Amino acid sequence: MENIHIAGTGIWYPEDVITNDEIVGSFNSYVDNFNTINKSKIDDGEILPLEHSSAAFIEKASGIKTRHVIDKKNILDIETMMPLVEHEDESRLSIHAKAGIEAAKKAMDQANVQPNDIDGVILGTSHAARNYPSVAIEIQNQLGIDGYAYDMLVGCSSTTFAINNAFSDIASGLAETILVINPEISTPFVNYAKRDIHFIFGDGCVATIVTNKTHAKNCFKILDRKLITKFSNNIRSDWSYLVRAASDEKSMEDLLFYQNGNSVFKEVCPMVAEFISNQLKENDMQPSEISKFWLHQANARMINLIVSKIINSEDFDETLAPLPIQKFGNLASAGSMFAFNLHNDLNKGEKGIICSFGAGYSVCSMIVEKI
Ligand SMILES: CC(C)(COP(=O)(O)OP(=O)(O)OC[C@H]1O[C@@H](n2cnc3c(N)ncnc32)[C@H](O)[C@@H]1OP(=O)(O)O)[C@@H](O)C(=O)NCCC(=O)NCCS
Repeated sequence: MENIHIAGTGIWYPEDVITNDEIVGSFNSYVDNFNTINKSKIDDGEILPLEHSSAAFIEKASGIKTRHVIDKKNILDIETMMPLVEHEDESRLSIHAKAGIEAAKKAMDQANVQPNDIDGVILGTSHAARNYPSVAIEIQNQLGIDGYAYDMLVGCSSTTFAINNAFSDIASGLAETILVINPEISTPFVNYAKRDIHFIFGDGCVATIVTNKTHAKNCFKILDRKLITKFSNNIRSDWSYLVRAASDEKSMEDLLFYQNGNSVFKEVCPMVAEFISNQLKENDMQPSEISKFWLHQANARMINLIVSKIINSEDFDETLAPLPIQKFGNLASAGSMFAFNLHNDLNKGEKGIICSFGAGYSVCSMIVEKI
């Protein structure tokens, strides 16, 4: 078996924090305003009134208490209801590169690697920042790294699929050390006027050093990787460069992120629980041998349900399956490695599972062992 490790991780997140009460206050003001402006149409039965959101619902349904975002003021302002950013421009670093570099420097410090130790940069994210040049190449240039770099997209599994690519490149002899970066600047893509999704996402970035060297203090050997994809339209975004040339009409809102959250919940939980259970069987491991489940942070109830199915018990506490979603919201593909970064105090020989799941559907699960 190859000796390939996660030798260091680093995270970046913006300072602005929005609480559930704040996001609900803004949404409910928008609703009241909408219903007042459209009173006659509502009274005539032409359109339905919008309904209030609720902080109690959000915490109960998702586990989210706060989220870190790039622009609190404009997200909460009912005249804008989105973060404001400037057009990307060749005269300065892109927003994704800035976040990526912050996280990458921390991961490199933790892994004790220098730019000249790194052979490649793989950037995975849910949303393409631009068509080209790759943000990974921008970061590579900025950090003074030789070798190759590229971007890849697999929705909420982009981080673990990127780590998987890094593993394969190292196993094949193409590289010895790879920097994986996963910026998830999701809030520009959130429709803050939609009740069932306005509370879900936060912004953040994680970086991971994958290497066949072991000189870092906190190294985790990747024992096994398992990936699957199954097509589903339940999490979708049709925003693309084709929008400019489309001959039929669609509003901007229709092109943003949307999901059938309830179906995702019902379909993905059993799928992921069975997937991880099978992976453990294939590796002759018992669920009790797993000290930590670092799972995709889409929903705290989903995480708890998946873990309870795997270990066949509901009697476990948060230390077994950490929930950074409470503080950061859904960080798209960065969630599972955020959980890993914040809660990886395992003893030598203890094992854990890093697993992402999301749009596609896509799932990637890795068994790791603290060495
Ligand atoms: C999004 C999610 C939190 C919603 O939770 P849910 O329990 O499925 O909620 P539902 O959509 O079934 O709605 C339940 C009820 O709450 C209501 N509701 C929805 N949003 C609400 C809000 N913001 N405030 C108050 N009530 C709300 C609904 O109208 C519905 O009411 P009804 O029962 O009278 O019809 C949950 O489905 C989820 O997290 N799914 C997985 C998402 C996921 O993994 N996505 C991947 C992207 S990374």
